[in-house]
Amino acid sequence: MFTIGVLASGKGTNLKALIDYIKKEKLPVKIGVVLSDNPSSFALEIAKEEGITYQCIPEKKYKTFLSPSTEKEYIKTLNSQDVHLVCLAGFMRVLKKDFIQDFSGKIVNIHPSLLPAFPGLTAWEQALNYGARFTGCTTHFVEYGVDTGPIILQAVVPILMEDTPETLHKRIQEKEHLIYPLTVKLISEGKIGISGRKVYINT
Ligand code: GRF
Repeated sequence: MFTIGVLASGKGTNLKALIDYIKKEKLPVKIGVVLSDNPSSFALEIAKEEGITYQCIPEKKYKTFLSPSTEKEYIKTLNSQDVHLVCLAGFMRVLKKDFIQDFSGKIVNIHPSLLPAFPGLTAWEQALNYGARFTGCTTHFVEYGVDTGPIILQAVVPILMEDTPETLHKRIQEKEHLIYPLTVKLISEGKIGISGRKVYINT
């Protein structure tokens, strides 16, 4: 069975979308473990409700990344579940070299903008303040840079005159919940190939 590990710090709506899609499509994909750095993350509640193994591994020393010892704990837990793919779903820590090397080419992320535009935090707000007409979301492989890895799928969301950061983020998230499960499906089926920065989809 193709096994994924999901890392989330916040609401966990992408985790829920993955769970629902796997069930609905009867995908041969198992969520082996859900990990969070945040004890109050709703992702942990979702995992509990769904009977998925979960663990909170907090980081005490740093705010934006994991100390080497904490990172080792994440790696150990993911390996103990024989995870084939690590899915970052709103995980608010930048992964360092060891983690990325251990899961080389096997970490994906979802970002709330059309990368390479608006990397970093609150990307929907960046797009709104910039006056862009369109934004959206992107799934991509994770490499050393922040939000710079090869792009897998994107979905476009128009920005409306009356949008607030909240209404825009809500519409972006609706698209996230479509492209993230689809990304995982394609990878689990071996339909995704990478050549340099380009991702090929063989359907
Ligand atoms: C999403 O907007 C995602 O693009 C970003 O973090 C947010 C996570 O949302 N990386 P949720 O916790 O899955 O609802």
